[in-house]
Amino acid sequence: MVATPGVQRGLEDVVALESRICFIDGVRGRLIYQGYDIRDLAAQSTFEEVAYLLWYGRLPTAAQLADLKTRFGTLRTLPPPLVERIESMPLESTPMDVLRTSVSALALFEPDETKPGESSIGGAQRLTAALPTILGTFHRRRTGRAPLRARPELSQAAYLLYALLDRDPTELEARAVDVALILHADHELNASTFAARVTASTLSDLYSAVTSAVGTLKGPLHGGANERVMDLLNEIGTPELCETVVKDKLAKHERIMGFGHRVYKVEDPRATILREWSRKVGEAKGNLRYYELLRRVEEVVHREKGLYPNVDLYSGSIYSLLDLPHDLFTPIFAASRVAGWTAHVLEEYQDLRLIRPTAKYVGAVDLTYVPLAERG
Ligand code: SDX
Repeated sequence: MVATPGVQRGLEDVVALESRICFIDGVRGRLIYQGYDIRDLAAQSTFEEVAYLLWYGRLPTAAQLADLKTRFGTLRTLPPPLVERIESMPLESTPMDVLRTSVSALALFEPDETKPGESSIGGAQRLTAALPTILGTFHRRRTGRAPLRARPELSQAAYLLYALLDRDPTELEARAVDVALILHADHELNASTFAARVTASTLSDLYSAVTSAVGTLKGPLHGGANERVMDLLNEIGTPELCETVVKDKLAKHERIMGFGHRVYKVEDPRATILREWSRKVGEAKGNLRYYELLRRVEEVVHREKGLYPNVDLYSGSIYSLLDLPHDLFTPIFAASRVAGWTAHVLEEYQDLRLIRPTAKYVGAVDLTYVPLAERG
């Protein structure tokens, strides 16, 4: 489509609002949450600390962190009628559809959190705690495993893996997922967060905003890319075929999933960290196949198109090494990003402005109405 003067397609480079939650330096490849560099947070913090940081604007004290962990443990349990609804969903359902439907259904049991504009950090904590349970409930049902137990003693990352794997994760597995959850927790006005803020800007409620966000994240140009990266690796098969398969796709103007970004003009700092975790977990599992293939894909795509990896390139390799099925990769992204979505919704409520851009009308004008009888 030809660019029209004055029209910023995809709102590219449009500054829509002011926010204190997240800063992306696309030129230097830096990502900041409430003032803290993602590299420090990934190296030294936990998802619980980062969620607290996003919601409150400061890192928690030990007592505040302990309280949040206790609340997550308590808030993980779903209303029994909702568990029944999830377990009755068609087993072949897409987990992102189950997630979207269940977040929306959960609102029916939590009327206080669905009053327009009155959602609270409590609602944010509830949703963040509940998403792994929604995913685990459905996944255990479709795989015929034992129902979930609350396990309040587990961290969010360990509980997510317990919920999906029906076993306790190793320390390395839990830490790898904890880092992935930290890295996916927020990313300024990405499409799904923007969808959440648009919903909140009408004074709609937190659950409606997160439902909007889940539906948006499902798209393969956004959160859905991590699942398709693994499809690409399976299609390539061996390192020797990498050059041919990737160049063939580029020649057909196909998008290589996990590469490129609307904001980063250099390597996504999250990809840098996830690449290292893909290697660590691959070494621990004695399987560097994914890591080595991805390094080859990186080399070809950068040489042929000058593109850099984004957050979605290596995350799937880590989840695959943990025996997680591909269709759970984007839901795991959502289980982290719900912290950012809810932080942005609450920020929107604090400085509310209905989000309503305009369109440049390029259709017909002044047409004469022809009565139906005369239209043949
Ligand atoms: C996420 O916004 C966020 O912050 C998102 C996210 C977050 O944390 O929330 O970071 C998460 O969504 C990461 C992105 C995951 N999606 C993918 O990996 C899908 C593959 N990537 C592309 O679809 C693309 O890079 C986008 C959608 C991510 C960004 O696209 P833009 O900014 O709209 O860029 P563009 O489509 O204008 O492309 C510019 C050029 C084009 O070349 P020409 O046609 O002009 O010659 O770069 C090419 C594109 O063809 N290009 C790619 C490519 N990405 C861009 N070519 C091949 N493969 C790619 N992946």
